[in-house]
Amino acid sequence: MYHRKVRDSATPSPGTRDACATRSSPLHSRVHFFLYRNGRLHCEDVDLARVAEELGTPLYVYSAGTILDHYQRLDAALAPLDHLICYAVKANSNRAILKLLADAGAGFDIVSGGELFRVLAAGGDPAKCTFAGVGKSREEIEYALDQRVYSFNVESEAELEYIDRIANASRRRGMRAPIALRANPDVNPHTYEYIATGSHENKFGIPLGRLAAIYERAANMRNIDIVGVQMHIGSQITEAEPFADAIKKVAPIVRDLKSKYGIKFFSIGGGLGIVYESSFESGRSEWWKENTSASTNKSKALSIQEYVDATLPALRELNVRILLEPGRLLVGNAGVLLTRVRYIKQTGQKKFTIVDAGMNDLIRPALYHSYHEIVPVEEPNCVGSVSGAGQTSKNKSTNKIKEKIDIVGPVCESGDFFALDREMPEVHECDLLAIMSAGAYGFVMASNYNSRPLPAEVLVRGDKFAIIRKRQTWKDLVRGEIDAPV
Ligand SMILES: Cc1ncc(COP(=O)(O)O)c(C=O)c1O
Repeated sequence: MYHRKVRDSATPSPGTRDACATRSSPLHSRVHFFLYRNGRLHCEDVDLARVAEELGTPLYVYSAGTILDHYQRLDAALAPLDHLICYAVKANSNRAILKLLADAGAGFDIVSGGELFRVLAAGGDPAKCTFAGVGKSREEIEYALDQRVYSFNVESEAELEYIDRIANASRRRGMRAPIALRANPDVNPHTYEYIATGSHENKFGIPLGRLAAIYERAANMRNIDIVGVQMHIGSQITEAEPFADAIKKVAPIVRDLKSKYGIKFFSIGGGLGIVYESSFESGRSEWWKENTSASTNKSKALSIQEYVDATLPALRELNVRILLEPGRLLVGNAGVLLTRVRYIKQTGQKKFTIVDAGMNDLIRPALYHSYHEIVPVEEPNCVGSVSGAGQTSKNKSTNKIKEKIDIVGPVCESGDFFALDREMPEVHECDLLAIMSAGAYGFVMASNYNSRPLPAEVLVRGDKFAIIRKRQTWKDLVRGEIDAPV
């Protein structure tokens, strides 16, 4: 055995980040902890080629140090405010990751009973959970009431009435459900249309003009306790202005609600974007100095500091607790999807690199046309060799040739691609590739399409790694299916 395992993968102890941040290693002062060492891609101090060799591919690998580092930097930047960071579980809901964040003090933004169940299983505190989502079921509302979540973030008048009725029903009679209405501030977040949520064209939230009347109704409901107001304008937002504009629009409402109902909190949602195009390079903190608006007019990324600088002054004046619901920011560039090249196929002008991961493992390119940087695990222009899955790579990484290729999966859909016409160093059969920034909305959206087993997930901490989800087997695919008796 050449690797050291984390003693207990489900219960990582806090402190990895400190270990990473304080020792004199190249990880010190990095923004994410994926980097080449001796020509091989490492996650923290773990050689990814070795992990892939041992556990196979496709394989999700997450850096605990990166996740905790993001959380702690955001937490520190918000220190002037009474605040709570509620990690948006939907971004990556693996229990080991929830446990990591719960231990760091995070609350959780959940959108289903299943997510609440996961948070509790990971040791999260329900009193730090906000329950969002446009279509909560009776069963989910009852469960969240019984667990005494911090707030239901309510998306419609119909939902408000339903929560009131359930809180009044049966053994819950007289129980008061804590609620915040989700405000739709109608701002353009300048992001991809499927992940914009704060404009009047989306199904989310309540128009600002309707809020006062619905809060008044809520105040007259026997089983409703008005505790806050919430908004979330969209995801993968890389400018500070839309956040600042939305806060400006909702701030007068917060003041009004505070004086009328004594609300405790204002949740400004999540949505902070991460770097996809220069994902690998953005691990260096110097990259941020060169590419954010402090240094250039063409900002490529939104830093935590820029976000906080643009929002904090207006929030401070409100004198209520501020909640944030970041998902992607905390886990997005803390994860990669490792995949091995199966075949090279040349057809006319096109060169296809067919890898063993598919759109069922990572659907973002197919669903959102999203860009993921893809890097070879063996550093281009370095001497070395890789072997795996019983095959030895014809590694020619000393080759400086760059070529345009499509990187596609084995799924029977033309939409099954990770990159189109992408300029890459020459890639060969059996080479190992890392699809960067795959930590958010990656595994959670994976499916068994084409009867492909779900990939395994691994968590790295310093020089150790642990499987935090086993790879599915073919047997798993049919488990739960029942022969029809007719
Ligand atoms: C209500 C709410 N909060 C938070 C988030 C997290 O967004 P992000 O991962 O972009 O931070 C989402 C994402 O859809 C959301 O709908």
